[in-house]
Amino acid sequence: IALGIDLGTSELKAVLLDEGGTVLAHAGVRLGISRPQAGWSEQDPESWWQACLSALHQLRQSQPDAYARLRCIGLSGQMHGAVLLDQADRVLRPAILWDDSRAIVQAQWLQQLHPEFAAVTGSLPMAGLTAPKLLWLRQHEPQIFNEISCVLSPKDYLRLRLTGERISDVSDAAGTLWLDVAKRDWYEPMVQACGLRLQQLPRLVEGSAASAGLSAAAAQQLGLHAELLVAGGGGDNPVSAVGIGAIAAGDGFITLGTSAAIVAITDHAAGNPASAVHSFCHALPQRWYTMGAMLAGASCLRWVTQLLGQANEQALLQLVQQRLPQTQPIAAAVPLFLPYLAGERTPHNDPLLRGGFMNLDYDSSPAMLGYAVLEGVGFGLLDALHAVQSAGVAVGACALVGGGARSNYWAQLLSNLLDREIHTLIGSELSACIGAAKLGFLAYGQGAALLASGMPVKDRFFPVAAQQPMLQERYRKFRGLLAAAQALHD
Ligand code: XUL
Repeated sequence: IALGIDLGTSELKAVLLDEGGTVLAHAGVRLGISRPQAGWSEQDPESWWQACLSALHQLRQSQPDAYARLRCIGLSGQMHGAVLLDQADRVLRPAILWDDSRAIVQAQWLQQLHPEFAAVTGSLPMAGLTAPKLLWLRQHEPQIFNEISCVLSPKDYLRLRLTGERISDVSDAAGTLWLDVAKRDWYEPMVQACGLRLQQLPRLVEGSAASAGLSAAAAQQLGLHAELLVAGGGGDNPVSAVGIGAIAAGDGFITLGTSAAIVAITDHAAGNPASAVHSFCHALPQRWYTMGAMLAGASCLRWVTQLLGQANEQALLQLVQQRLPQTQPIAAAVPLFLPYLAGERTPHNDPLLRGGFMNLDYDSSPAMLGYAVLEGVGFGLLDALHAVQSAGVAVGACALVGGGARSNYWAQLLSNLLDREIHTLIGSELSACIGAAKLGFLAYGQGAALLASGMPVKDRFFPVAAQQPMLQERYRKFRGLLAAAQALHD
């Protein structure tokens, strides 16, 4: 049995997975985010550990026999966060998360000073990535900066508590901007440009390799064997990919969670930093992926649901489906939505960009606004798809995962917009945890067969040609609104 833990932004989830790929038990613990200033996003690493303890307690309660038979652990987590430790591994301040935009100026400074680094690190410097955050700390919290003995990514803090060791894996490390993604090792010039030394970064392993064993103290606290093996694990997108079986070059998928992304697996580092696409290491050796990442995805739907006073997303989606069935063309009067509630990464690399509705009139209804949001996020994904393709990466049919995959209406709209097959999967809500558990099995020397098996397809959606000319016209108008949105923060 393997334990898979996914440290998300809003929830920590954990599963017990058997060798045949069956989920024996799963648990989830909600996490809070603190936003002490506009654009800031922080979490206390201690709250992650407490959530982990509580999730494992739930698993142990529900499946005591399976829990006692655990052989390995895999970790997945939100990427690009900065956990800052002193010499004694004490946390120096709350972790700064992936959707924090305080380091805008520092990201621009890195790009101006070292434009040639982006080709090595696989991405333009962006405020949300880890490296610019450290430059911000050097400038604004120098006493803390001077005390930093180690910088870890969020899930690697859980590993520290489990094993006592400072270790990361190459897929999560790629998201720091300190990695040479082709070589899968730290890139010292970028580390130095941030005023850091290599000694302040964790040791690296591949996601499917063993990292360390459970410490005696953690084993006792958790009721597990000491030395229980912890795999390298990885960032949430690559580990989800492992979970759904997106492991070979050409496999593609879309995540529609708090953030959204279109991801294509490659067998080489295929980037195009100018388009603000990311080329990062996969959680499996000799694999990479190219990703167009959006900062707001299904979170836009949650926001508009609350704004319109709807009971929940399901209620709004039902209204949209009734009033704007996709069997008829969408009227030109339906508003357009810019999905930049939290700024944007791919393709605009503009954390200050904000969203908006355009083309409102007295007839604009909740259903129309709901539709506009689904479509606007889809247009953002179409921009991201073009960016991935600009790196020379072919994208075929895509699986759809994350909370947004619950809506067949959204899946059909995405198929029409992106002009490709979209399929949903049975069990994909747990894809990151399951991927983490699979990496645990691989590190333990089992799991090759499990790795190759993906998840069963739930539904397939194919482009409806009759809908496409109208959507293309609306996409053209959507693109035309960008300049106005950008002018608002110039
Ligand atoms: C990926 C990204 C998000 C975070 C949080 O680049 O920023 O997917 O990993 O989930």
